[in-house]
Amino acid sequence: MTILGIETSCDDTCAALIEAKSGKFRVLKNVVASQAELHKKYGGVVPEVAARQHVETIIPVINEAIMGAKRSSSKNSRPKIDAIAVTSGPGLITSLHVGVETAKALSLAWGLPLISINHIEGHIYSSLLHKSPSPIPRRGSGGGNVENRKIYFPAIALIVSGGHTELILMAKHGKYRLLGRTRDDAAGEAFDKSAKMLNLPYPGGPEISKRAEKGNPQAFAIPRPMIQENNFEFSFSGMKNAIRLLIERLRTDAPSERLSDATLNDLCASIEHAIVDVLTTKSLKAAEKYNPKTFILAGGVAANKKLRQTLKNSLPKKTRLLVPALNYCMDNAAMIAIAGYYHAKRDSSTNTQSVHIPKKNFQKCATLKANANWELVN
Ligand code: KG4
Ligand code: ZN
Repeated sequence: MTILGIETSCDDTCAALIEAKSGKFRVLKNVVASQAELHKKYGGVVPEVAARQHVETIIPVINEAIMGAKRSSSKNSRPKIDAIAVTSGPGLITSLHVGVETAKALSLAWGLPLISINHIEGHIYSSLLHKSPSPIPRRGSGGGNVENRKIYFPAIALIVSGGHTELILMAKHGKYRLLGRTRDDAAGEAFDKSAKMLNLPYPGGPEISKRAEKGNPQAFAIPRPMIQENNFEFSFSGMKNAIRLLIERLRTDAPSERLSDATLNDLCASIEHAIVDVLTTKSLKAAEKYNPKTFILAGGVAANKKLRQTLKNSLPKKTRLLVPALNYCMDNAAMIAIAGYYHAKRDSSTNTQSVHIPKKNFQKCATLKANANWELVN
């Protein structure tokens, strides 16, 4: 099966082409047009700006993704694709609309099934991608690395990004139960907002973790809200306030109110340590209770080296840790296409509703709508 994935839930315009066969994948092309530079000056994503940029970029990005695809006959004929998978939620509604409406148009024009994918589910499946994307395949040559990782069940997924912090129990493909989530800010937001308070550029996670390598994680005591509570919920807004007060105090005490490089590094190390500590403590509690065969760490914050390492060192030996390759931690469409493959496989046997087949039912395809608050539970 060749699947075109489309992802526009936040500030990256993404399209990817994957080939899937019996649970093995080949990423033929993975295109990500990042808007990070555009939003840098605002210190965060501005929804209206993101949506406008998606509108400008979506077609060139899809075009690049399908360039290497086989064609039916003549040069301009439609590419040989079996289905289109698109993120329809959760995310920024105006951004989601661009991907969803484009996918609907292509699905109707090409007569292809359209698969609606939850963004969080996409991140879960990104854990199957552990190799960097291959060089651009020549037309018709296939190419790309074959990915043959597997999720063994039960599995637990910790999804940590700029918008999400969720612990999910997965009984099998397509069967999800939310164990807990953040009550306020997401873990990525805690990194981003701390960086903003320290005048470090957006996105803050990579900046903080770079400086943290040179700092002392014990230098400052940062509170870890809810860490001892007997549940799988998180809270980062109290931590953020404590960090703000600490920075204000250090600035007042510093000569000309400027933090030294060494203090900045120590602050970054202490902030990273606190966030990682909360995430790993709750993850280990969940692993202890549910005994998963696989533990999945995914989402933008999964790129954090300390988090990857700490989880790897502390999970029980019998639990396999699956973490995507660094470039697949951030939003991408390869993960959406792979999630789409599992939907297609399931739907052909269970006849559920996620696959919209325009050839047989144009009405159904047309009714697919973006849903900013789509919950991944069933
Ligand atoms: O998954 P993603 O690309 O977009 C969302 O769906 O939010 O995640 C972006 C988030 C940002 O908050 C960014 O600061 C964080 O991932 N991030 C990191 C690192 N790299 C990216 N956080 C901590 N350490 C990193 N190395
Ligand atoms: Zn994401």
